[in-house]
Amino acid sequence: IEECRKVLTSEIKTFPDWPEKGVNFKDVQSILFNPELASITSHYLKELLPKNKKNEYEFNKILCFDARGFLFGFDLAKIANAPMILARKPGKLPGELITQTFQKEYGTDEIQVQEGLIKPGDKVLIHDDLLATGGTAGAAAEIILKCGAQIAGFNFIMDLTFLPGRKELQKYVPNHKIKALLEF
Ligand code: PRP
Repeated sequence: IEECRKVLTSEIKTFPDWPEKGVNFKDVQSILFNPELASITSHYLKELLPKNKKNEYEFNKILCFDARGFLFGFDLAKIANAPMILARKPGKLPGELITQTFQKEYGTDEIQVQEGLIKPGDKVLIHDDLLATGGTAGAAAEIILKCGAQIAGFNFIMDLTFLPGRKELQKYVPNHKIKALLEF
């Protein structure tokens, strides 16, 4: 895994000062563009999924973020045979919605989830491509708690460790339940 981590890390392109000055944007495009790297990413993200002692997945639903969280989130949902929930940016979803506002690395934002998908007693895993300030993933955690469900853990491709995301998410789960394949 360490060898694969090195390869993937070296393949991720950084765009300095995008979308704003001071933000170094990490792009998964280069991984998606290379089927072998995409398969490796999928394989190792799967290895990070929470399991119990009987080797069963310790979550029954997976919530993924608009837009890059959908890419590997769908893969993980199929692998774990878990229903996938889309957390989308405002104005994208029909029906009754649960909305959560949060602070982002750049500005304020909202995410929305359709009502009725998360039920009390559910154990929901949260997946996204990137953990930065933790605002987005924290908003998902709030939605899950509002629904009376549990947070099974967090699963990311990348963790920007110089930002306080991981610390932020430790409000919701212990550190070992916050998994990232790559650290920058
Ligand atoms: C990026 C990334 C995460 C979020 C992480 O999304 O894909 O969703 O920022 O940042 P945070 O930890 O500070 O909340 P972006 O807004 O660029 O959306 P996109 O995936 O649609 O490009």
